[in-house]
Amino acid sequence: MAHALDKGGVIAVVGSGAMGSGIAQVAASAGHKVLVHDTRPEAVAKAIAGIGKAYDKLVEKGRMGAPEADLARARLLPAASLAELKDAALVVEAIVEDLDVKRKLFAELEGIVGPDCILATNTSSISVTAIAAGLQRPERLVGMHFFNPVPLMALVEVISGVATDKAIADTVHATAQAWGKNPVHAKSTPGFIVNRVARPYYAEGLRLLQEQAADAATLDAVMRDCGGFRMGPFELMDLIGHDVNFSVTQSVFKAYFNDPRFTPSVLQQELVNAGFLGRKSGRGFYRYGEGIAAPAVQAEETFEPPKTVRVVRSGKGAEPQFDALYERLAGAGIAFTQPGALEGGEPAAASGFYVQGAAVFLSDGRSATQRAADDNYPDTVLFDLMLDPAKATRIALAKADQCSEEAWRGAVGMFQAAGFTVSRLDDVPGMAVMRTVAMLANEAADAVNQGVCSARAVDIAMQKGVNYPRGPLAWADAVGLGHVAAVLHNLAATYGEDRYRVSPLLRRKLAAQVGPHSAGGARFHAI
Ligand code: NAI
Repeated sequence: MAHALDKGGVIAVVGSGAMGSGIAQVAASAGHKVLVHDTRPEAVAKAIAGIGKAYDKLVEKGRMGAPEADLARARLLPAASLAELKDAALVVEAIVEDLDVKRKLFAELEGIVGPDCILATNTSSISVTAIAAGLQRPERLVGMHFFNPVPLMALVEVISGVATDKAIADTVHATAQAWGKNPVHAKSTPGFIVNRVARPYYAEGLRLLQEQAADAATLDAVMRDCGGFRMGPFELMDLIGHDVNFSVTQSVFKAYFNDPRFTPSVLQQELVNAGFLGRKSGRGFYRYGEGIAAPAVQAEETFEPPKTVRVVRSGKGAEPQFDALYERLAGAGIAFTQPGALEGGEPAAASGFYVQGAAVFLSDGRSATQRAADDNYPDTVLFDLMLDPAKATRIALAKADQCSEEAWRGAVGMFQAAGFTVSRLDDVPGMAVMRTVAMLANEAADAVNQGVCSARAVDIAMQKGVNYPRGPLAWADAVGLGHVAAVLHNLAATYGEDRYRVSPLLRRKLAAQVGPHSAGGARFHAI
């Protein structure tokens, strides 16, 4: 077990903007003396005053004692020059995102600090390996990637470059933990963990909008109310700013040598071209300002609850999702014909609800229209993945182009009777939550497969760094890896794009299920 830096160790923060001041606040609260330096002395004064106010607020809310806050305040000191940082045990750099400027700073620091001082960079997009290159001792430089706002976000990605000493990364990891953070180790690769694995959240959203699956407000509501995400992709991109979000996507795309997985969106590019940058410019996907009403979310009109429904289980894939939904429908008093059996011509390929002629299935990555054709069963309706079918307030449905109105009404009425608001998505393959979660899990699997981080780390990172309701790999485990792989395979078949290729690790986990020593089946996490 590596030890955290001793509280007696001085922490230096260079660059006291949004991130640096947050880092200084957290380090001082944790008991360290913190020296704050910036090329603009006024930025240091502003940061120290701001941190003081933040402590006041914490005291007001009863989350920090007044004497404790006074002590933390007294531990924060401005440093007028880099030379004053000579006794630091750890320097965290949070200056401008520019490789040459960062390299120059660290080269200068090497001549000032002691031999045991750890050098850390808060860069979010530059290779830690490249920042360390050229230093006399590149092994002591490590990435310490905090998330904004630092005092509130628990995640710290501890990034090892090619030369980084493992013991240094371990010390920084333990130190972040001692500061009350949730650190994870990762290898220096484009986007590290979060900025890489989160790309499909935006990208699939943008593609769904581009393909007119629904309007932004409806897709956001589906991702929130069905998927359990705190914010939908469009409101989130509006908050981040399209200039920032688009440029991160572009930089990851470029850094992975134009891997189609990361292809930026022309839709978002047009928003940037228009200057519709999101909240900060008053307009993005949404308009902001006084008196502007919240945009309407599509919901189907109320239909009669069906008289009877049959449920037929195939025993193949994604059963937990299906079973939870069945429990809810049964609990809502829907009369299920027992035993449920298929009737003439009904497709048996997956577990389904049969209501007023409609066969209702969980999305498997094919469109309802495609599925209707494959099964030779026109009245096909699909539902989207939910985080928790027992609690979701909304369900997203899509119907085959050849589906009858009667069948559609039956499916909608059935879910409405169980308390769901039904939002209709146009018949895009994979619907919204299903294809987004499958792509998040696929990217997470690839990061693990390539040794960027562990399965546990990627799930912690996405929960603590971007507030996902569940880690993508735990989610894939819950849905069933076979189903996730089928969704990706079907998306790949529909779009003919390499973007939806299945991660080799996902394939391997699935294949490992076959055989006498499969130990619990195909999962990323042990039960
Ligand atoms: P910021 O613009 O708020 O602050 C940067 C500060 O660094 C400014 O006060 C500036 O005067 C100072 N500075 C610039 N060059 C300097 C130098 N050579 N020596 C000393 N001080 C210098 O920027 P922010 O947002 O705090 O970002 C800082 C770093 O953190 C960047 O590397 C950024 O990529 C990274 N980061 C930013 C996140 C964010 O959400 N803003 C999240 C995670 C990482």
